[in-house]
Amino acid sequence: MTLTSLQQQPADALLALIKLHNEDPREDKIDLGVGVYRTDTGATPVFAAVKAAEARLLETQTSKAYLGPEGDMGFVHALMPYVFGKQDPTMGGRIDGMQAPGGTGAVRLAVALARKAGIKRIWMGTPSWPNHAQIAADVGVEIKGFTHATKAGTVDMDALRFAIEAAQDGDAIMLHGCCHNPSGIDYTNAQWDEIAALVKAKGILPILDLAYQGLGQGMEEDAYGVRRVLAEVPEALIAYSCDKNFGYYRDRVGALYVLAAQADQVGAILSNGHALARACWSMPPDHGGAVVRLILEDAALTASWLNELDVMRARMNEVRARLGAAGMQGSVDFTPFGTQNGLFSIVPLTGEQVLAMREKHAVYMAGSGRINVAGLTMGNIDKFIAAVADVTK
Ligand code: LMR
Repeated sequence: MTLTSLQQQPADALLALIKLHNEDPREDKIDLGVGVYRTDTGATPVFAAVKAAEARLLETQTSKAYLGPEGDMGFVHALMPYVFGKQDPTMGGRIDGMQAPGGTGAVRLAVALARKAGIKRIWMGTPSWPNHAQIAADVGVEIKGFTHATKAGTVDMDALRFAIEAAQDGDAIMLHGCCHNPSGIDYTNAQWDEIAALVKAKGILPILDLAYQGLGQGMEEDAYGVRRVLAEVPEALIAYSCDKNFGYYRDRVGALYVLAAQADQVGAILSNGHALARACWSMPPDHGGAVVRLILEDAALTASWLNELDVMRARMNEVRARLGAAGMQGSVDFTPFGTQNGLFSIVPLTGEQVLAMREKHAVYMAGSGRINVAGLTMGNIDKFIAAVADVTK
């Protein structure tokens, strides 16, 4: 038989953690695994604006007939001023996009489109979101890694400069727009300025993954890097996720945007995206995109959404401040956690120590040592810090 030749695959390590945590009967267990926002009581509520827009959609939607591989273009366009700036969100008609099923769908499309355009190799700071490499491998594009951060917890600009210098014609570079996953170590604005100039000078294709806009410094602030790079380069691909900043995780809402050298080239490029989508998921599920569109078309719902995002960011900053203030605990210096961005940071633990965190202390974190800081609350943070001190003493 043919199918029996397929070997059992290990479960995705990050997603397997969800199950392991759910099965743990210990009441004081802490889930710092997959990246979902949590309140100080550990809940991941549906945004009030999302609830309201969903109710509106239920009342007003008159058909479920097919849209098309591009999805809801009202959604795609409504998001653009937030990503590319209110001034000229299409950059003179050079940017347009299509809906995708979540950030993963958007990254998948971006990498597949890059490959179709002749890209064979993507440079990427490591460690990165593990799915970046999985997607590249599945699409058939080589990943060329370079070190993202120094041991001191800052961006390793030398490694990045070296990588861009070594890149060849026809290469691409994958850059996290903000809230670097897994390290939380982002480029400063000055570093983005330099990156934009380097990428432009080298002529490589930037693929920008913006999955956490608004969870770092703010909606505008978190778009700085993407906008700086786009201002310099002729072409780029931007993978966007609404899963985190609209709390839409399981409903999967994202978008792929393309920047073309000239406005009249956008249509042809995107038609390739449509063909790739058609051969994959055909059309993205509509619900989430329609809801995000309804929010962005309504000033009151938009204000409610942005306010909730502010609350999330403030809570994560509070957790980060507490972590940063913890300083040295065992062999781990928590100080840099205080200034990192977004949901994630890496605790420098060995595989054995990560296991001990789980088995001895019921703390669930990725094998890489990545934690979702939003899983920490004022009620469990001391236990977490003490557990790190214990396993590294
Ligand atoms: C994460 O890294 O935890 C999230 O981006 C969820 C995912 O799909 O991996």
